[in-house]
Amino acid sequence: RRLLLLNGPNLNLLGKREPDVYGSFTLDDVEQEVENVVTKNDCELVSKQTNHEGELVDLIQEAEGQYMGIILNAAAYTHTSVALHDAIKSITVPVIEVHISNIHSRESFRHQSLIAPVCYGQIVGFGLLSYRLAAEAIFSISK
Ligand code: DQA
Repeated sequence: RRLLLLNGPNLNLLGKREPDVYGSFTLDDVEQEVENVVTKNDCELVSKQTNHEGELVDLIQEAEGQYMGIILNAAAYTHTSVALHDAIKSITVPVIEVHISNIHSRESFRHQSLIAPVCYGQIVGFGLLSYRLAAEAIFSISK
């Protein structure tokens, strides 16, 4: 059993990027956080980060039949990408939408998520903990 962690644009800069909004933890810390939950559940973690929308689409398409779940922080594409909405809709693997910050308490252009209607659920605003909660959620729903 494998779980896919997908991080989108600018999340490679975690730790350096707007620490007041996104905290001081790094992408490595995120992977470690998820890895801890994954190992506990006798599962294997595959983690990818890309700044490219089409690559996220490819990775989501290719996940079908390969993973028990996907934790997705689509970052800014959350608010703009019909292509990601369609890709998520085209697979049966459950996708949990994650955000570090509370997108609903920020600028109005972040209030809408185009992917939320096709995701299993959404976890927002808990910083690094958002990712751990998403991992726990995937194992809870697939028992
Ligand atoms: C984010 C929120 C998005 O609005 C933003 O574009 C990001 C990160 C978050 O995790 O809080 O890049 O997805």
